[in-house]
Amino acid sequence: MIRDVSNTYVTRAYGGFGRKEKKPVLDHINIEMKPAEIFGLVGESGCGKTTLGRSVLGLIDHEGEIYIDGLRQDKSRRWEMARKVQAVFQDPSSSLNPVKRIGWLLEEPLRIHRIGSRQERIKRVDEVLRMVGLDPSYKTRRIAELSGGQKQRVCIGCALMLEPKLIIADEATSALDVSVGAQILNLFRDLHERLGLALVFISHNLNLVYYLCDRIAVMYNGQIVELGTARTLYSAPAHPYTRTLLEAIPEIAGENPEPPGDETQREPAEGECCRFAFRCRWRESRCGITPPELVNIAPPGEPPHEVRCVLKGLTANSTRSGIFAPTGPAPG
Ligand SMILES: Nc1ncnc2c1ncn2[C@@H]1O[C@H](COP(=O)(O)OP(=O)(O)O)[C@@H](O)[C@H]1O
Ligand SMILES: [Mg+2]
Repeated sequence: MIRDVSNTYVTRAYGGFGRKEKKPVLDHINIEMKPAEIFGLVGESGCGKTTLGRSVLGLIDHEGEIYIDGLRQDKSRRWEMARKVQAVFQDPSSSLNPVKRIGWLLEEPLRIHRIGSRQERIKRVDEVLRMVGLDPSYKTRRIAELSGGQKQRVCIGCALMLEPKLIIADEATSALDVSVGAQILNLFRDLHERLGLALVFISHNLNLVYYLCDRIAVMYNGQIVELGTARTLYSAPAHPYTRTLLEAIPEIAGENPEPPGDETQREPAEGECCRFAFRCRWRESRCGITPPELVNIAPPGEPPHEVRCVLKGLTANSTRSGIFAPTGPAPG
C-alpha cells in the first residue's frame, strides 16, 4: 500500500554551482494494491515511475507511507524489507557481476542473509533456476555466455531467492527483442500464478501493461492521472493523456520506443492548474485555473475508475473511434 507518497530531488543549477533547488518528482501518490495483484505503472520518460519504484524498494527517501505485507518501508529497514520486496531492472548486464558463476550470483542473497546451510542453498538455486526456465546446469556458467533473455531470467531468479511477496519490474523487458520480451512477460505471469507473487510492472508501453496487468495507474508529471482496471483503461480511457498514449501504440506490441518525455512538463508550479492542460486537445478555460482532483467516475457497483480531469471522462465516449478497441487478448 502506497499512501500519500511524495518525493523531491535536490538539484543545483549551472553544473552544481547554482542555487540548491528542490525539484518535486512525485506528488501525493496513493495506490492500494490487492494481495497477489499485477499492477501496472505507465507514463512517458521522466514522469516519476522509477522514483516511485525505488521508493517502494526503500532505495531512496520519500514522504508519506509505504506498507508492504503490513510492514512500513523505510530506508533504515531495507535489510528486513529485502525479504518482502525485490526488483528486476531494465539492463540485466549491469546488475550482474560478470566474473562470478550464475550459481554464485543466485546464492548470494541467501549468503548475505545467512539463510540455510550450503546444501540447502544449492538446492534452492536449482529450484529457482527451474522456476525461471533455465536448466540447473546453468549454475556453472558465467553471464557473458548467456543471451539477453537468459540474463534477465537470472535477474528474476536473484529476485526470487528470498521468496519476496512483491517484485517490482522496472522496464524489465524494454531492452529485449519483442519475442524475447514476450517470453519474459509470460514468465512473470507464470510466476505470479504459481507463487501468488504480487507484481508492479513499470513500463512506458501501455500495450504491454494492458496485456499483463489487472489494474493500471497512468502517471503524468509526478501525479496519477488515471487509475482503473486494465480493461476499463484500454476500452474507455477517460483522461486525455491516457488517450494520447493509446493513440501512440502501433499495431505490434513492444515496438514503440519510449516517448521522449517533455521536459517543459515540469514547468507549471505545483497545484497551479492541470499539469496536462497545455498539451490537451480538450482543454477548456477552467483547466488553466482549477487543479483537478482524482475522482472516481465508475458507475455504482463497478470497480473504481479514478480520473484527474475536470471533464471526468466526458471525452471518452464523444469522439472515441474503433482505434481504441483492444488488439491484445483480454487480461485475466
Ligand atoms: N538522482 C536524481 N537527481 C535529480 N533528479 C532526478 C534523479 N533521478 C531522477 N530525477 C528526475 O526525476 C524525474 C523522474 O525521474 P524517473 O523517476 O526516473 O522517471 P521515469 O522512470 O518515469 O522515466 C525526472 O525529471 C528526472 O530528471
Ligand atoms: Mg524509469
